[in-house]
Amino acid sequence: MDKLHVGKPVKGDQLIGREAEIKTMLNLLSQGQSIVIIAPRRFGKTSVILELLSRLKQRNNYTACIDVFTTPDLPSLSQKITEQVLNNKKLGKVFRKIRNNITEIIRNVELKQTIESFEFILKYASPDQDNWELLSESIDFIEAFPEKYNKEIVCAFDEFGDINKFNGDGLVKMIRSKIQLHDRATYIFSGSYESVMDSIFVKPNSPFFRFARIINLGYIEKNEFKKYLLNTLQSNKIAVSEKLINEILGFTKGHPYYTQLILQQIILNHSIGTKLQDITLKNILQQILIIENNFLEKQWEDISKSRELVQSLLVVIKQRESLYSVIDTKKINLGRALKKLSGKGIIYNEKGKYQLSDPLFELWIIENVIR
Ligand SMILES: Nc1ncnc2c1ncn2[C@@H]1O[C@H](COP(=O)(O)OP(=O)(O)O)[C@@H](O)[C@H]1O
Ligand SMILES: [Mg+2]
Repeated sequence: MDKLHVGKPVKGDQLIGREAEIKTMLNLLSQGQSIVIIAPRRFGKTSVILELLSRLKQRNNYTACIDVFTTPDLPSLSQKITEQVLNNKKLGKVFRKIRNNITEIIRNVELKQTIESFEFILKYASPDQDNWELLSESIDFIEAFPEKYNKEIVCAFDEFGDINKFNGDGLVKMIRSKIQLHDRATYIFSGSYESVMDSIFVKPNSPFFRFARIINLGYIEKNEFKKYLLNTLQSNKIAVSEKLINEILGFTKGHPYYTQLILQQIILNHSIGTKLQDITLKNILQQILIIENNFLEKQWEDISKSRELVQSLLVVIKQRESLYSVIDTKKINLGRALKKLSGKGIIYNEKGKYQLSDPLFELWIIENVIR
C-alpha cells in the first residue's frame, strides 16, 4: 500500500496540483526576485517550499530552509541558518555536532578548510558569545558562502511571521538591511497570518515593503485532487462511488489537509471492515471532527474572546444577501471585524463574498455554536 501523507509536508510525486504556481515561483526566483507565500495553516506552504528547493537543488542552486516556527530563540535561529548554509557542502551535521567544541572544530579538516574564511563560526564555541552579533554574521554568511563557491542560493524562511516572537522590530529591520544587499541570495518567506505578513511585507511602512512578490496560495484544483483520490482508493481496492468523491471535494473545496485526512479515514474505515454503504461523507466528517477537536476548539477560543468577531463570523457562515443588512452596525463594527478575521486567516474574500477558509471549522461552528 502507498503511504498516505497527512500532517507532514508532501514532496515530489506526492504533491498534487500547484504546478502553475510552482512554475511562476521558480521563474521569479531564478530572476532573483524574492517571494512571500501567504496562506492559512495547512494549505501546503511548507510542501510548496520543499518542492521549490528540491527543484532548485537539481538545477545546481544552493538552498537553505529555516523553519522559524520551530526555532525557540535567537541563538537557535543563527545556528540553524549557519547549519543550513553549510549543508550545501554537506557540513551541516558535523557543524551541529561540534559547534560547541573549538578543538573539535579545528581538528575537523573538512570543516576547518571550508570555514577558514568564515571565522565567525568559531564564535559558536566561545563561552561568552554575543547572540545578536552571531545572528547578524549568520545572515552575512547566507551571501558570503555561495560567493566563495561562485554559486547562487535560495534561502527559505518558513513561517517568517513568527519572527516577531524574538525581538520584534529591530530584528526584522536588521535582516532586511542586510539581505537587501545580497546579490547571490534570493529569498522565500512564508506565513500563515495575513495581518502579521501585511505588517512585515505589504504595508507601505513595513520593513520588507516591496522586497518580495506576494503569492497567495489557495485551495488545490479539484480535478487534480479527484484523480488522486480515485487512484488511491482504487489501488487500495476500495470501490467508493464517484458521487462520494465529488461530495468530499464539494466539502473540502480542495483544502489539501482535510482532503488527505478524509481519504486516510476512508481507508482506515475500510481496513477495519466498515461496510461500504456506511462510508459516507457524513460519517467520515463526524470522525474527523473528533480527530481535530482540540485544534478547532483552540481556534474558537481565540475568536470567542471578542463578541464582535463571533457575531460577524456567524453572519458570514449564515451568508445572507448582504452582511450589513443582518447585523446591527450600531453595536458592531462589521468592517473592522471582517478585516480582523481575514487578518487571522479565518475568512477570505472570494469575488466579493466572504467565506471561511477552513471548511471543518465552519462545520464545527455550525454543530457546536449555531445549533
Ligand atoms: N500539494 C499538496 N498535495 C497533496 N497534499 C498536500 C499538498 N499540500 C498540502 N497537503 C496536505 O496538507 C498537509 C499540510 O501541508 P503543509 O505543507 O504542512 O502546510 P502548511 O505549511 O501551509 O501548514 C500535508 O501534510 C498534506 O497532507
Ligand atoms: Mg508549514
